[in-house]
Amino acid sequence: MMTDWLTGYTKEVDDIIMTYLPKEEGHQKTVLSAMNYSVKAGGKRLRPLFMREVYRMFGGTGREVEPFMAAIEMIHTFSLIHDDLPCMDNDRYRRGQPTTWVAYGYDMAVLAGDGLAIYAFETAAKAFSMLAAAAGTGSEDTASQAAVARCIGLLAEKSGIYGMIGGQTADVELTGRSLDREQLDFIYRLKTGALLEAPMMIGAILAGAGPEQVRTVERMAACVGKAFQIQDDILDLTSSQEVLGKPVLSDEKNHKTTYVSLYGMEQARRDVEELSREAICILEGLPGNHEIVRELILMLVTREK
Ligand code: IPE
Ligand code: IPE
Ligand code: MG
Ligand code: MG
Ligand code: MG
Repeated sequence: MMTDWLTGYTKEVDDIIMTYLPKEEGHQKTVLSAMNYSVKAGGKRLRPLFMREVYRMFGGTGREVEPFMAAIEMIHTFSLIHDDLPCMDNDRYRRGQPTTWVAYGYDMAVLAGDGLAIYAFETAAKAFSMLAAAAGTGSEDTASQAAVARCIGLLAEKSGIYGMIGGQTADVELTGRSLDREQLDFIYRLKTGALLEAPMMIGAILAGAGPEQVRTVERMAACVGKAFQIQDDILDLTSSQEVLGKPVLSDEKNHKTTYVSLYGMEQARRDVEELSREAICILEGLPGNHEIVRELILMLVTREK
């Protein structure tokens, strides 16, 4: 259920993301427009929302978080564009419109995903010049610069073979097989968990959180990520294309082992609640005002899309 504050926050995040999208011009115009088509379609913007709110919770007040908010949404959108391709989940509808490969062709969808993945890092690197501009001197304190550099590395790690791409690899390769709990856990931790851990950790690091606090944030985000993917599996069975903006029964079509097929619907629902509770419990141990982050986590339990 979209509450008023969330609608307002999502709009603010949307506006930030839009300012970082590339101009659709030049000989590569087609791929630029395919990239923007997918990002602009809009999603829940959960990852940049979490990033900004964890940043604020740790006392962050600057703007260097903004290019990272755009970057995480670009990487997430790249993961969706490729996830929908005929060679992967073969889905034709996403974020309320035809998928990128349906609208632009297979070739341009691959390139649009590649384009977003790399442009995300070009965008995140803009945080360096924002720090310098904020200092007004053309040079900024080395602690903040080091934090930005670390976040760029973290973004790569959580998106790549040790993160989302690693999880998608196992997910695709093991399609049609019955998975055991350990395999499913690995897939969910990487394909979905990693892209929720990255934004929350980046928010914390940019705001100056210490190593122990960042590890705590990672544990909290891992719970959120798992709960999020379980709820995604539930909605694939219980929702509708109109509400979700993407096809339902995609997992069944692809003969995927999901949390629901392995543990049953009852247990899946219970575990979403339990994992959200666990995430909130971890949150309680962190400094700052937890209100918004807590609300975002609670929203996962009741979300219908
Ligand atoms: C969908 O993510 C892919 C999963 C990791 C389950 P979202 O449900 O956040 O998709 P958008 O961004 O709102 O479209
Ligand atoms: C994909 O999981 C997670 C990604 C890394 C894209 P799903 O394949 O279940 O995501 P949806 O249901 O298509 O959004
Ligand atoms: Mg998939
Ligand atoms: Mg899919
Ligand atoms: Mg799904």
